[in-house]
Amino acid sequence: MQKRHFLHATALAMAALASGHAGAQDNRFKIGFILPMTGPQASTGRQIEAGAKLFLAEHGDTVAGRKVEMIVKDDTSLPDVNKRLAQQLIVSDQVNVLAGFGITPAALATAPLATQSKTPMVIMSAATSSITEASPYIVRTSMTLAQISSVMGDWAPRNGAKRVVSLVTDYAPGYDAEKFFKEHLTQNGGEVIESLRVPLRNPDFAPYLQKVRDLKPDALFVFVPSGAGAAVVKQFLERGMDKAGIRLIGTGDLADDDQLNDMGDGALGVVTSFNYSMAHPSALNKKFVDAFLKANKGMRPNFQAVAAYDGMRVIYEALKTTKGQGGGDALLAAMKGQAFESPRGPMSIDPQTRDVVQNIYLRKVEKQGGEYYNVEFDTRKDVKDPGKAK
Ligand code: DHB
Repeated sequence: MQKRHFLHATALAMAALASGHAGAQDNRFKIGFILPMTGPQASTGRQIEAGAKLFLAEHGDTVAGRKVEMIVKDDTSLPDVNKRLAQQLIVSDQVNVLAGFGITPAALATAPLATQSKTPMVIMSAATSSITEASPYIVRTSMTLAQISSVMGDWAPRNGAKRVVSLVTDYAPGYDAEKFFKEHLTQNGGEVIESLRVPLRNPDFAPYLQKVRDLKPDALFVFVPSGAGAAVVKQFLERGMDKAGIRLIGTGDLADDDQLNDMGDGALGVVTSFNYSMAHPSALNKKFVDAFLKANKGMRPNFQAVAAYDGMRVIYEALKTTKGQGGGDALLAAMKGQAFESPRGPMSIDPQTRDVVQNIYLRKVEKQGGEYYNVEFDTRKDVKDPGKAK
């Protein structure tokens, strides 16, 4: 009888181990990141991993008695891989939270699994408005293109850019950028004379830029995802479009802090709207930037690093509020409505939409001390995502 009892207990323990539970003593709290660590979006993966690791290093890995552990899976910049990786993280690794998600299709592929398993999913990059509507377990700390582009649409026609060509990457966040920029530009007396879309994979901007040159607009408005901005700026300059009197404007992904030093003097004066600049003048941001540069051998932090840093804060605070219990529904409830100062400025998680509410800044590229920065010159305060289904 005793022996049978013992065998039974052992079998249970084995089963628990096999499924990732090491028993009641296991106090680990696992955050499963799915990120593009290789492939065309690799800079996104690098930035998010570094931002999250910095938060963990600064705040320690013990929260409400739980040992926080980051597990990072590489989706190789292929969104189709996300579903399988999410399944592994949920079923084998038994993660408490899913996080990361470089591009929109990656986030959308995983959303149904977050719902089925009741696992909170913190979006640290992907920026299409509809993503938060794809699962009630999604919370976003990055931005939305509707939020960013509407601000540029308001600013441009009042500042000499009335006839504008838009050029966006041909997928969901690009459509949001195109739509909200146009809507706001038009409301303010401007006109989009042509809307161009370039492929996500291996884009060749040359033929599109030639077309823009022929159309001679006041300005070219650009949205491309993080990592593609430098190529656009380079080709814009190679064609002498700045000298032909066409201004370059866009969302801040174009003048990515990660790539800005590679663009050179040609980027000077480029105006973008965005949620984060590494030159944001606050004590908290200075501390963040200094620590990030120190920990990452000169790699400059961009908006994705900050979204990851803040995403970790949201997870940590939720874990504290729930006293380390860590159930999906309770964590999610504790994430809704959080408000705090980020390196980007004040931000909060809208309790209704679970999307980020934040300041959107107008910035101009300037050279200071031999480096290039997006220097903020105007602010729209507490902007909610205008792109939610009504
Ligand atoms: C998305 C990805 C990016 O890298 C970015 O800068 C903006 C949006 C996206 O796919 O949603």
